[in-house]
Amino acid sequence: MDRKELLTWLRQDNPRKLDELWRMADTLRRENVGDAVHLRGLIELSNHCSRSCWYCGIRGDNREVERYRMTEAEILECAAQAARFGYGTVVLQAGEDPGIRPEGLADLIRAIRSRSGLAVTLSLGERSDEELRLWREAGADRYLLRFETSNPELFERIHPSASHKRSDRVGILKTLGSLGYEVGSGVMIGIPGQTWDDLANDILLFADLDLDMIGVGPFLPHPATPLGQDMQKLLAPPGEQVPNTEDVTYKVIALARIVCPRANIPSTTALATLNRFNGREIGLTRGANIVMPNLTPMQYRALYEIYPAKACVQETAESCHHCLRRRILGIGRTIGTGRGDSPNRRFAGAAARKREGVA
Ligand code: 5AD
Ligand code: FES
Repeated sequence: MDRKELLTWLRQDNPRKLDELWRMADTLRRENVGDAVHLRGLIELSNHCSRSCWYCGIRGDNREVERYRMTEAEILECAAQAARFGYGTVVLQAGEDPGIRPEGLADLIRAIRSRSGLAVTLSLGERSDEELRLWREAGADRYLLRFETSNPELFERIHPSASHKRSDRVGILKTLGSLGYEVGSGVMIGIPGQTWDDLANDILLFADLDLDMIGVGPFLPHPATPLGQDMQKLLAPPGEQVPNTEDVTYKVIALARIVCPRANIPSTTALATLNRFNGREIGLTRGANIVMPNLTPMQYRALYEIYPAKACVQETAESCHHCLRRRILGIGRTIGTGRGDSPNRRFAGAAARKREGVA
């Protein structure tokens, strides 16, 4: 699909036309990744952050947040819970926390892998090549790092570098791939200043990077952030600005499925936050095949407030587990078993071997 077609779909508002898009995405989802919905247990292990991204509620500059960092024992208990629930993967997510010691995290990854055999996905922000290599060697399988927007000016505006060197998220994604990680990325939809052209370029970049996992969700303004406070002032001209709506989110999920048919695509919590009633289910019928139940202990959940009114903040791991099972079975899908690796890796490996002339 080229840029022009992407733009036409993104701006499409004829419901009959859109039904075609949903059908196409759902068919490709079924043919490439099947009917099983894989569950990834999310552990938000620290809300410390040295960065101050303009959208994020746990930005370092937000002094109102009470900070926490889970202990190794607490994290291992969450991973054990994931195994008891039958999940195939745990996702270790945190802010860019300088207090996460690289060696300590490597030990933790080894402990999770050896005790439970769960796949380990990391989502820890922009990290050095050395750290990424160390964690891969310790057994981490996958890494999530959204590039948030492919527009470099918009990226720079909302990611102040401060003491940090300039970000190169696309460079990091390439490093992750060469280290043998399954690579995940994605964007927020409706960032103030994000245009339809930007969003079409984002989707083209998904394909260019040949992503194994694609996570997208609506931008949700947080009152303690610059984008939350000055949203109106930062919007692109009317007609150009992408709205942060449920509908555009479904379109991007569907188009992501079309350009990366073998990727694992979650129906995200941010989407469920916009439509608590059935946002997650609709996402699953328009291209998505993954959900990420929250395993973070209750005493920390509300403190990981990247955006307000986040779905599932009041629910326990147990209730999210049952809730999601019921929702998945309710739309006639099955619960995935095993690790749920992306079939894209197998194809990428095979294609590379073919290029190199290896059988
Ligand atoms: N609204 C929506 N998504 C957000 N994220 C961070 N802050 C917000 C927000 N205010 C998303 C970013 C990040 C992911 C972990 O959460 O895309 O990569
Ligand atoms: Fe958490 Fe439904 S998934 S309450």
